[in-house]
Amino acid sequence: MKICIVVGSFRKDSLNVQLAQIIQESLEKRAIGSMIRNDLEIPMFNQDLEFLVPDSIQSWRDSFLEADGIWFVTPEYNGQIPGSLKNLLDWMSRPMSLGAAWTDTAMRNQCATVSGIGGRNGTKSVQKLLIELLNFGGMKVMDHDLAQIAMSSKTMETSQIEYTPDVESIVEKQVEAFLSFIKMEENR
Ligand SMILES: Cc1cc2nc3c(=O)[nH]c(=O)nc-3n(C[C@H](O)[C@H](O)[C@H](O)COP(=O)(O)O)c2cc1C
Repeated sequence: MKICIVVGSFRKDSLNVQLAQIIQESLEKRAIGSMIRNDLEIPMFNQDLEFLVPDSIQSWRDSFLEADGIWFVTPEYNGQIPGSLKNLLDWMSRPMSLGAAWTDTAMRNQCATVSGIGGRNGTKSVQKLLIELLNFGGMKVMDHDLAQIAMSSKTMETSQIEYTPDVESIVEKQVEAFLSFIKMEENR
């Protein structure tokens, strides 16, 4: 099994990248392969380009298609999905070749889940919107046991996520739930 972890922030000290690394460690403990991607500096979606896609977009499509599950780990920006992540999902929501069915996309029927670290509400608002968008794009979304982590004051000061037993158990719970969800969907 292989999980593609997509992080909605590409800043250097991103807390969401740090959370993605904790998720990755937990997957590694179970011998599950994963990759973290946050290279979101891709062209803005343009319908004129969609059937001659830039290499960066093809590479994202390949990562989505090769994965058994796609795990989004994102901050919220003004209560919303960061624009760069929304842009990626606009690309991933489109048919992959000219004349293909509208359902022939890199995201449709893929298993997905979401997590995040942010302000007081622990990214709850963005998760709700993201889940709506992923469902709209035909993903099979696991929307329970989600890690919604609020930054501690120490985390705010240091830009380092606090790897507490609490964070660890929240992540472990979501990993277990997501792996079971993927297996269940695969056996349907
Ligand atoms: C443009 C912008 C808007 C933000 N809006 C919110 C918000 O609505 N809710 C929230 O909890 N945090 C918000 N934040 C704070 C982020 O949660 C915080 O900067 C976080 O560290 C970003 O994630 P990262 O560390 O992975 O880059 C915002 C930050 C930025 C830059």
